Formats: sequence, C-alpha cells, structure tokens
Amino acid sequence: MRAKTILLNLLFTAFILTSCSAVTPDGLEFTGGQRIISPGRTAELIIVPHYPEDSSGTDSQRATKTSAPSFSGEPQLSSDNPDIKILSVKTETISPAISCTIVVSASESMLSGESARITISWGGFSSESLIKIKKQPSLYIDESGVITDAEATDALINKNRELPSDYIPSDLVRVKVPTILIFEEVNHLRKPASAALSSMFRAAEEEEGFILTARSGYRSYSTQVMLFDANVSTHGMEYAAKFSAKPGTSEHQSGLAMDITAEIMNYQLEQSFGKTPEGRWTAQNAHRFGFIIRYPEGSEEITGYAYEPWHLRYIGEKLAAEIYHGGLTLEEYYSGQNLRSHT
Ligand code: DAL
Ligand code: ZN
Repeated sequence: MRAKTILLNLLFTAFILTSCSAVTPDGLEFTGGQRIISPGRTAELIIVPHYPEDSSGTDSQRATKTSAPSFSGEPQLSSDNPDIKILSVKTETISPAISCTIVVSASESMLSGESARITISWGGFSSESLIKIKKQPSLYIDESGVITDAEATDALINKNRELPSDYIPSDLVRVKVPTILIFEEVNHLRKPASAALSSMFRAAEEEEGFILTARSGYRSYSTQVMLFDANVSTHGMEYAAKFSAKPGTSEHQSGLAMDITAEIMNYQLEQSFGKTPEGRWTAQNAHRFGFIIRYPEGSEEITGYAYEPWHLRYIGEKLAAEIYHGGLTLEEYYSGQNLRSHT
C-alpha cells in the first residue's frame, strides 16, 4: 500500500513537471546572427536549442526556465570550405539550459568576400550559419602607411594606404584584348585580372556587340611619378590630385587596375564614358567578372577621387558582387559603413 502511494506521488510529480515547465525545442539556433571574421583569425559561435514561437519570453529565458532538452550524442559539425576549420566543439549544461560552443578558424590566405557554411546536427535537429571573410585593413598596414598585403587581390590601396615603392607584381602578363597605347608597360595586368578582362570584353561583344578597349593597366612607380608630375604641371596640384594618384598610392601599380574606353569615346578617358552604352554596360556587368568601378559618381569624399567610369579594379568575383549589390565603394565595404548616407 505504501509503495503504491509513493508511485502515485512520483507519477503526479512527473505530470506536474512535464505539464508546467518543459517546453520542447523545435530546432537549433546560432546566436549572434551572421559572423564576419578576418583571415587568420578565430571566432566563437554559440548554438542553443530554439523553442517554438508560441512559448513566452525570449529563447534564452525559455531555455533557462525549461528542462534541458535531452539531446542525445555529440553535436556533429562540418564546414563546406576547407579554409575555415572547426577547431573545437564544447557542449555545456548549466541546468536547465544547454548550449554548444564551437571555435572556427579562417586560414591566413583567405580573401574578403569568401565564405563558409557551418552545419550542425545535434539532438535530431540541424542548422547552418554563414561565416563571411572580411579583412580588417588596419591589420595590413605598417606605421608609415605602407600596406603589407600588396599581392592580395582584395588589398585596399588609396590615398592613405600606399604600396611599397619598390613593389612590382610577380605575375604580370600582356593583356589579350584590344589596346590603344604604344607604351607597352600599360598593356599589362596581373594574370587573374587579365583573364577576367578577356572574359569581360568577350561578354560585351557577344552580349551587346560592344568592342571595348584597354587603355592603361599596370604602371610602375616610376611611370606614376612621370604621370603625376605631368598632371601637376598641366593642371596644378589640387586638380591633379582629384584624378591622378601620387606615386605609391595608385592602384595601377598593383597590376589590378585597367582604364578602359571605346571608339565612341575616341579612345579617351572622360566622364561621359559613363553615359555611353558601353560605359553603362560596364558599370552594370563588371562585377560578374570580378571588377568594380572603383571611383563611382558622387563618392569623391569617400574615395578621394573624382568620378572615373573608366577605372576598373579587379577584386575577384565574390567581393565584386558584394560591393556592386551593396552599392558600396571599397572604402565603405571595409569600414562596414555606408558613408554616403551620412553626406
Ligand atoms: N586615376 C587613378 C586615381 C590613378 O591615378 O591611380
Ligand atoms: Zn585608372
């Protein structure tokens, strides 16, 4: 009789506990939203059970007021990009809540715009989170304002971030597209930029019948000295600095920039190129091939240069797509701010 009373008491207690406090999770949730990390860095991601919408309070309040879900077995994690590795996985139960903390690391060689999808399977549920790579430019510059990642296609080069004066790209090739200048140096680009330019010019012709022409690509430090000095003599320092970069600060020295034009422009570089069918097509399509219009209209305050619809900078397809679709300049992308909305 006594045993029966104890059993009934136990059943009643179990009924009270399950009916009053236990809320069953309906999935897993990466806390903290999308993660952005710098190459060579690690990040900690926390995954918690997700509870049905109709239970009251926030997920963490719900998690703490309910019984720890009985997730069976260890969480299984995977990354779809071998350059982003899962370093550690730790589960923790601070009764009654449960969480899983993982540490991921991005390889030093990763470039801005690359990403990885991290997938977790745990307790019968699965969830995924996207990790995006974005350099912190402050990590890639020395005390004198000289950048330390000159060979990287995502390098930020501008009036405040110079290339080393002796920097010569290691993989310059002669471009395989129509050119206009007889000074051979400027008919070169770095290998990936040259291949992308060929693809872009081919698409312009195949899709629209436009024949684009390359005018000025790689320029050595000493060529930029000549050009800048000539611009200053002709137009004065203030005007020259709006269109022409001081030696060391030109993207042309990186071998990743090409000024393009067309017959409709008499092969000159003028702002009206942006209003020609060829210029419009370029602005709308360059990102497909990894290029951006580096100095867009209305962004002089941000980039330091007047509108140059002809100046294409190769940064790789993923990053170019992100910048094009975000309506950003490279400066805005790296600062994480849309600086135009404040001007
Ligand atoms: N025209 C661009 C700003 C350069 O000289 O690099
Ligand atoms: Zn240019």
